[in-house]
Amino acid sequence: MATQVVVLPASLAGKFEGSFAYDTLKDRLPLILTRVIDTLHRHKNEFFEEHGEKGIEAEKKAIAYLSKLRNELQTDKPLIALHDNLPDTILWNQHLEYHRNLSNEPPSWFQSPWLYTECYMYRRIHEALVQNPPISEFDVFKEEKSHGFFESQQAIIVLSTYLQELLKNIEDLDEKHLQEEFLKLFQVSLWGNKCDLSISGGKDNSQRSNPFQALEGLKSFILVDHLEKVWSLLINKKKTTAQTTRIDIVLDNAGFELAADLVMADFLLASKLATEIHFHGKSMPWYVSDTTKQDFNWTIRQMKSANHKWMSRCGVSWEGNLKKGVWVYQDHLFWTLPHEFSSMAKVSSDLYTELHKSNLIIFKGDLNYRKLVGDRKWDFTVPFHQALNNFHPAPLCSLRTLKCDIQVGLKPGQGEELTHSEPEWMIIGKYGIIQFDAAS
Ligand code: F6P
Ligand code: MG
Repeated sequence: MATQVVVLPASLAGKFEGSFAYDTLKDRLPLILTRVIDTLHRHKNEFFEEHGEKGIEAEKKAIAYLSKLRNELQTDKPLIALHDNLPDTILWNQHLEYHRNLSNEPPSWFQSPWLYTECYMYRRIHEALVQNPPISEFDVFKEEKSHGFFESQQAIIVLSTYLQELLKNIEDLDEKHLQEEFLKLFQVSLWGNKCDLSISGGKDNSQRSNPFQALEGLKSFILVDHLEKVWSLLINKKKTTAQTTRIDIVLDNAGFELAADLVMADFLLASKLATEIHFHGKSMPWYVSDTTKQDFNWTIRQMKSANHKWMSRCGVSWEGNLKKGVWVYQDHLFWTLPHEFSSMAKVSSDLYTELHKSNLIIFKGDLNYRKLVGDRKWDFTVPFHQALNNFHPAPLCSLRTLKCDIQVGLKPGQGEELTHSEPEWMIIGKYGIIQFDAAS
């Protein structure tokens, strides 16, 4: 893995008193830590059954570590180095040094950039487990993720049924109809991003209604809609070349959102708008609901074994896609670093080179958007291309519902009008964007 240590560009630093970021750190993060501690408590017997006294001992130590972490957070203590000797430990510690040198004060929970401290909390949760074998592999968010999947089951059935009906005649669809289906499934994937569990502090946030019925009514909430551009890119590629078309999907949340992404991916393959799809997930439990390899495989297994014909058909064919190699799952430690994507070419050049092979990269979700635009307080009208700050590995598209106070590429006055009519428009997940950059 060609990961090297580099000096990182300056990012948004400062104190957040009174801002959304500050509220998140002060209120939501301790809540998440408390739920993690509670989860470990509740699995005590399971640890004992599996590992005996060693399991109990590990659970106690992990809880002690996490309680200390919660206290550090709540009392705004300085951030400390990691000790777990994983492949990314040096990068994290180097980032800490970088922030130490950046400001006159030592980096701390409420003084350092929000993106950094929030990522740091999830990495410390990982350290709490990693340092305590035999429970190192335990995913503290697995329960919430599974719950989200099961609570969304009806909506997933609707999606699977729709897909399987569509696939029956997909070869006969003319271009106009194919485009209509494309637009629909991309929008379902976009709104699936409402189902993130970190914004709700881990509380249920599943999709319960029919995901297609709402689409028309939701259109006016898409503030930037470049879907036609994405369609043109793919349909022109399909018409002009017989070679491969690779699409990469940088995944976000497991549960309904992942199911919607997989349905979209299946459609892209079946319609020959893509010939191979690469999925990118997280290599550790992240932001409560983000997809890991275990979640990805678990979801496909659940689909396959579901007691519903079309859901199960989806699971079987998705497993087949993976076996055939037309679907590929990949993870990389870069996705769980606090770095913005403009530093990927330097920090993880192998990943940048990999993404460069893609014909279209789809970035799902809010956190990916924050990292795409460097988590800076841009003016609303700054072009997306500019905010990407030279991150142009391939044409890319962000599908995201707005949950943080950053947005670029709006029309003059659009952001101000929204702020006036609905002050919380940026953080409530009600609005969405489908924002494209052609890369050249
Ligand atoms: O809490 C920080 C944050 O990035 C929010 O902006 C958002 O609510 C959440 O985490 C992650 O959202 P997503 O799952 O869409 O990346
Ligand atoms: Mg997420």
